[in-house]
Amino acid sequence: MSLIRSVMTGVGAYLPPVVVTNDDLAKVVDTSDAWIVERTGIRERRRAGPEQATSDLAVEAASAALADAGKTAADVDLIIVATTTPDLTFPAVAAIVQRKLGCPIGIAFDVQAVCSGFVYAMAVADGFVSRGQAKCALVIGADCMTRLLDFGDRTTCVLFGDGAGAVVLVPGEGRGDATDRGLLGFALRCDGTKQDLLYVDGGPSTTGGVGHLRMQGQQVFRHAVVNITEAVHAAVKASGIEIGDVDWFVPHQANSRILAGVAHRLGIDEARVITTVSRHANTSAASIPLALAEGIADGRVKRGDMVLMEAMGGGLTWGACAIRF
Ligand code: ACO
Repeated sequence: MSLIRSVMTGVGAYLPPVVVTNDDLAKVVDTSDAWIVERTGIRERRRAGPEQATSDLAVEAASAALADAGKTAADVDLIIVATTTPDLTFPAVAAIVQRKLGCPIGIAFDVQAVCSGFVYAMAVADGFVSRGQAKCALVIGADCMTRLLDFGDRTTCVLFGDGAGAVVLVPGEGRGDATDRGLLGFALRCDGTKQDLLYVDGGPSTTGGVGHLRMQGQQVFRHAVVNITEAVHAAVKASGIEIGDVDWFVPHQANSRILAGVAHRLGIDEARVITTVSRHANTSAASIPLALAEGIADGRVKRGDMVLMEAMGGGLTWGACAIRF
């Protein structure tokens, strides 16, 4: 049975130039490089400049993805930005990106699923592309998480960084089996009863302000490993593949111990895991496309490879998707 798949033809990434090392943080908060590396695997992160908004990071990543796909802004008819840190409460970052890139009138909106945002956005975009409603979709994960941090709270402020990654999805005819290029299947989850484990304590309809990120780290850690494993199995089943078919595991980059724990439970060799957390920290919705871009740029991920992505974040939300690159 032939059907339309969402085929990834371009990938782009952007990291702001300012590097903040663990030692830099130890000058402002009671922490140490040794503690952060041992508990998280993080050595440094990037911080957006004061003049940079999330849309600026998104535009850089999107431009790189379009160039990689051999497309121009004029081709784009759908923009979905996964973000938790919009420039403004509204309009959506996607609308700002459309204007800054100079794309024609089309569909543009944001998806808010925190660190799971990119996986959610891929699934949403697939609905448009596979129904013939979009011919050139930009799916962007972009966040300035450092803007949400309380630098008096050492349990959270060491964990996050800023960045953006983007992919181009175009329709491609497939046979309807796992040999097709494109997004093959996904699983998305949310358990709103776990809100208190990870949230931001502000918002337009409550405090009227932005607020700061709050987290019960150990609880989140425990849920992450169990939840992600279940969602990955569901996504793999929906894709008609086996875990053993996965060439590259591209997880959300929160903590090297979570990555190792999930890979171990899934039986995925650590050599197949693309990890950037030591240099990027947790860039929320940006972390998966940033890691994917790195894996492609250094020659590991090749056309035709099976790529498995997963994430978990505030909500709690979590999910996974499989795509043949
Ligand atoms: N520097 C030094 N000491 C610290 C720091 C720090 N930055 N942060 C906490 N500590 C101290 C604590 O105060 C505590 O001290 P105490 O024993 O004197 O009370 C001690 O270290 C141990 O604290 P724990 O919270 O038990 O440390 P834990 O081993 O759980 O590590 C961490 C904390 C790294 C946050 C861990 O729980 C974790 O990674 N959780 C996952 C959270 C996560 O990645 N969230 C991202 C968003 S969700 C997602 O993307 C999956």
